[in-house]
Amino acid sequence: MAEVPLSKAQLLPGFTHAVVRALPQSLAKEALRTGSLEVDLLKAQEEHDKYVSVLKHRLGLEVVELPADEALPDCVFVEDAAVVCGDTALITRPGAESRRKETEAMKAALTELGLSIVEMTDESATLDGGDVLFTGREFFVGLSMRTNQRGAEILADAFKDYAVSTVPVQDRLHLKSFCSMAGPGLIAIGASEAAQKALKIMQQMSDHNYDKLTLPDDLAANCVYMNLPSKGDSALRLLLQVFEKLKDHMLIPVSNQEKVKVDGALTCCSVLVNRKKNI
Ligand code: GLY
Repeated sequence: MAEVPLSKAQLLPGFTHAVVRALPQSLAKEALRTGSLEVDLLKAQEEHDKYVSVLKHRLGLEVVELPADEALPDCVFVEDAAVVCGDTALITRPGAESRRKETEAMKAALTELGLSIVEMTDESATLDGGDVLFTGREFFVGLSMRTNQRGAEILADAFKDYAVSTVPVQDRLHLKSFCSMAGPGLIAIGASEAAQKALKIMQQMSDHNYDKLTLPDDLAANCVYMNLPSKGDSALRLLLQVFEKLKDHMLIPVSNQEKVKVDGALTCCSVLVNRKKNI
């Protein structure tokens, strides 16, 4: 890994808005999943309400709440429908055909927020936002069962100011099934072989030296980090002792036990945007 020191102050924007979507009842039986555990819809609803409440009331974001669509069982996982960086929103072409229409409501919401919209219309491209890790300096795009090379190329065209590297994702749904940014220049990464292998590739591809925080459980490495000047550094995350090493962070544990049964991690449930308030 090259010796370019990170200027941490420049990394990772603050956020003013979050786009979330209500949970459809169809999630329990029809959402896509790699496992077979039964979802308790009531508990899933409670978890989601708490998540949205933290964004609104603890972190002070303006939250745009899209209505659920029963015909789109995975629609609560809004992250997959768009990648937002600066003033640009790339509306994706999700890898699962059953999820493609989720992008319509997301496009409308992000247009309303005044973002410049780029649409992934190429029918050979697929990309889920869950495969996109933005570090503040560059993008890593997981090549997974949902995201392909063409999807990564279109993302690179949409965000020309940043380098984009691809990382093969093995044995997991998305790249962010085992990693996320947990602070400026700090990558939270799971301890599994798949996660460590992906991290090694990211380190080899990058000109930047990232710090890493290794979590024993891959899913716990998926946290929502945001730098909110009025609140200090914040991380919205699953409860795990190792995060307590992050002394400067305000840590807000949020349970995610039900949505995880349908492969939904914490970052999956919001699209974070940095705009002036009250647009
Ligand atoms: N259930 C989330 C997904 O498979 O995309």
